[in-house]
Amino acid sequence: MQISTARFVLSSPSLKLCPKGDHPEFAFIGRSNVGKSSLINMITGSKALAKVSGTPGKTRLINHFLINDAWYLVDLPGFGFAKISKEESRKIRIMIESYLLRRDNLRLTFLLVDSRLMPQKPDLEFMAWLTRHHIPFVILFTKADKISKAHHTANPSQYRKSLIETLNIDPEFILTSAEKKMGREEVLGVIEREIVMRDA
Ligand code: GTP
Ligand code: MG
Repeated sequence: MQISTARFVLSSPSLKLCPKGDHPEFAFIGRSNVGKSSLINMITGSKALAKVSGTPGKTRLINHFLINDAWYLVDLPGFGFAKISKEESRKIRIMIESYLLRRDNLRLTFLLVDSRLMPQKPDLEFMAWLTRHHIPFVILFTKADKISKAHHTANPSQYRKSLIETLNIDPEFILTSAEKKMGREEVLGVIEREIVMRDA
């Protein structure tokens, strides 16, 4: 799929204030600093569409980007970020959960995890929650440029093995790097598949 236009639409503090759900929508979620905003920029081919930061917790709102005037990409705040207050982290959690549960035009959620790590407790809890609520998701392994080629297959397969053992789930996954522009076609392929599949 070609990206001809990508534009920022709105940052919303709650589901209620999000733009009208009149296009298929794809959300990016994952722990703070995992690389959500960077991946959105890489996929849309724009340098600074979504704000990237070395400081975790940069994205605090629900950010909508309209792609090709046809579908939305959504940058969500990171969860499990230790440096914000308990109260703020609870608020973000409620905002994310109500968005995921009630955004009717949400077609698929991309859950980003660092390709250097094995499943972490917040990720496992979050995947269990998604599974319990029948919210479909694809795992995007990020920052693949930081692992050796040998680990490109080893890490994801170890990760999958652990998910099968702990949660009895085996989600689809894609290895990505915003730095090396890796995984772009695969992610866009999944999005196109979802748009075509549901419209058929
Ligand atoms: P929050 O908005 O705080 O939740 O973070 P985020 O998940 O949006 O992460 P962001 O895209 O802001 O990136 C966090 C840091 O990781 C930045 O310093 C990025 O430059 C770096 N980063 C993101 N993607 C990659 C990648 O593919 N490779 C490398 N080496 N660094 C990356
Ligand atoms: Mg971000």
